[in-house]
Amino acid sequence: MGIYSYVILPRLCDRSMRNERLHPYRERVIGAAEGRVLEIGCGSGLNLPFYRPRVREILALEPDPNLLAMARRVENSGIHVNFIEASAEAIPLDDRSVDVVVTTWTLCTIPGSAVALSEMRRVLKPNGRLLFVEHGLSPDRGVRWWQDSLTPIWRRISGGCHLNRPIRSMIEDAGFGIDHIETGYMRGPKPMTFMYEGSARPK
Ligand SMILES: C[S@@+](CC[C@H](N)C(=O)[O-])C[C@H]1O[C@@H](n2cnc3c(N)ncnc32)[C@H](O)[C@@H]1O
Repeated sequence: MGIYSYVILPRLCDRSMRNERLHPYRERVIGAAEGRVLEIGCGSGLNLPFYRPRVREILALEPDPNLLAMARRVENSGIHVNFIEASAEAIPLDDRSVDVVVTTWTLCTIPGSAVALSEMRRVLKPNGRLLFVEHGLSPDRGVRWWQDSLTPIWRRISGGCHLNRPIRSMIEDAGFGIDHIETGYMRGPKPMTFMYEGSARPK
């Protein structure tokens, strides 16, 4: 791993994800979590302060050891957190063992996103929920052109982030039924800010 990936990228990730415009999304998505929660790609732990007391345990999974070290330093409201250094493509948890899986701006980056989503489905209880907020493919042709054109270079500088992933169909193709979804642009450059926020259940 080079110095850019190992040292600079985790700091850039932390800095960019601190954007205050993301807070309302975090409040809504994380605020809906309950029970035993698995957070995929917890990064530097920016969601941790948003969990409410109806969450019994947080399993915070993250493959990058530097981001995980930052997450360990974040204070939450006293909920027990188990940090897991692992990738979403191979979640080291039993089948049907979590109530909620949370993913916030990670499906854009995970290399094997289809495998990761099937892993999320595997560990969810049958009545469990996937809560998500992700940026992804825009419905607007002009914006999509930019997303497709920028993604090859963007991936290289941003640690593998794709601007053009079709988040809704990725979730559905992994065997989830969407309960609720809202889409739209956040303020900022359109190729980077088309958001998908919602919840889904294993079918
Ligand atoms: C844009 S950051 C989002 C971090 C965090 N979810 C947040 O909301 O601040 C993308 C995250 O996905 C993580 N990631 C990348 N590949 C992954 C994988 N294979 N499995 C799980 N997480 C992964 C990155 O390490 C990073 O923490």
